Amino acid sequence: MDKITVVGAGNVGATCADVIARKDLAKEVVLLDIKPGVSEGKALDIWQTAPLEGFNNRIKGVTNDYSATAGSGVVVITSGLPRKPGMSRDDLIKVNAGIVKSVTEQVIASSPDAIIIVVSNPLDVMTYTAYKTAKTKSNKVFGMAGVLDTARYKVFIADELGVSPNDVQALLLGGHGDSMVPLPRYTSVSGIPVTELVAEDKLAAIIERTKKGGGELVNLMGTSAWYAPGTSAALMVEAIVRDQKKIVPVCAYLNGEYGQKDIYLGVPVVLGKNGVEKVIELKLNNEEKALLDTSADSVKKVMAVLDEMNIL
Ligand code: NAI
Ligand code: 2OP
Repeated sequence: MDKITVVGAGNVGATCADVIARKDLAKEVVLLDIKPGVSEGKALDIWQTAPLEGFNNRIKGVTNDYSATAGSGVVVITSGLPRKPGMSRDDLIKVNAGIVKSVTEQVIASSPDAIIIVVSNPLDVMTYTAYKTAKTKSNKVFGMAGVLDTARYKVFIADELGVSPNDVQALLLGGHGDSMVPLPRYTSVSGIPVTELVAEDKLAAIIERTKKGGGELVNLMGTSAWYAPGTSAALMVEAIVRDQKKIVPVCAYLNGEYGQKDIYLGVPVVLGKNGVEKVIELKLNNEEKALLDTSADSVKKVMAVLDEMNIL
C-alpha cells in the first residue's frame, strides 16, 4: 500500500503508527495531530528506529495538514479525549463526536477511497458518526474494540492456565462497554474447549475482568491504555493491507444481522482488502442473545445522546 494515515498522535495513535511502521505495511505512514510539533516529533522518533528495527516505510508527521494524507488506503482515527478515572467511555461523546465528525470530513475529502478504522470512544457511536459523515460504503468504515477486548480475555485465560496466550482462541460480541459479551462457548485453548480447562467460577471472574478491562487500566494509569489498543488497530490494518481474510471481532455496521439494524456493534467478520468482507452470524443460544441485546441497548442509549446533539 502506498500510504496509511493515523489521525491523533497521542498515546494510541503514536503506538499504532509505530507498530504499522515495524510491520512495513506501507511506503509512507502519515501521523497527523492538531497540536503543533507533536506528530512531527513522534514521527521523527519512530523513523529513527528504522535502522534499529530494519523497516523501510517512511514516517511523516504533520500538524492538521490533510493534503499530506491524500491518497491514503487506510486511515485510523484515534483523535479525541481519553477517559480519566471515574469516567465511562460514554462520557466522552460530547467532545469526541465533534472531533470525529470534523476529522472524517477532512479525511474523506483527501482520500475518498480510504478504509476508515475508528478507535476514538465511545467506540460504537463514534464509528457510526464516522460512517454517517463519510457517506461511503459500510464495509469501509468500522471500529477497533473486539480485537483489544479478546486480547485482554486471552491473556487472562493464559495466566489462569499458565499457557501461551497465542494458544487461546476466543470471540466476543457487543459494544465496547462494560456490557460486552465474551463467549465461553466460542473460546478454546489449542482446540480444547475452555470450559473443560477452567472452572465455571474462575471463568466467570475472567469474563467480568475482561468486561472492565479498560477501566482496570484507567484506574492504574490515570488515563486509558495504549500499547494493546494501538497494536490491535495495527493488526486490523495489517489484515487489510495483506488481504489476510482474518476472522476477528470488529465494530461493524449491522443491517438486520443479529436482529439489529442501523447500528455499529462488535461482531465477528472477515477482514481483508475490501475492509469488512463478511459479517459472520453465529447461532447464539438464548442466554447469549439476551446478553447481546442488553449490550446493544446500552449502545443505543449513547446513540440517543448523539441524536440529541444533532450534528449528523
Ligand atoms: P491522547 O490524549 O493521548 O491522544 C489523543 C490525541 O488526539 C491528542 O494528541 C490530541 O491532540 C489529538 N486530537 C484532538 N483533537 C484532534 C483533531 N481534531 N484532529 C487531530 N488530532 C486531534 O488519547 P489516547 O490515549 O491516544 O486515546 C485516543 C482515543 O482512543 C480516546 O478517545 C480513547 O478513549 C480511545 N481509545 C479507544 C480504545 C478502543 O478500544 N477503541 C482503546 C484505547 C483508547
Ligand atoms: C480501553 O478499553 C478505554 O476503550 C479504552 O482501554
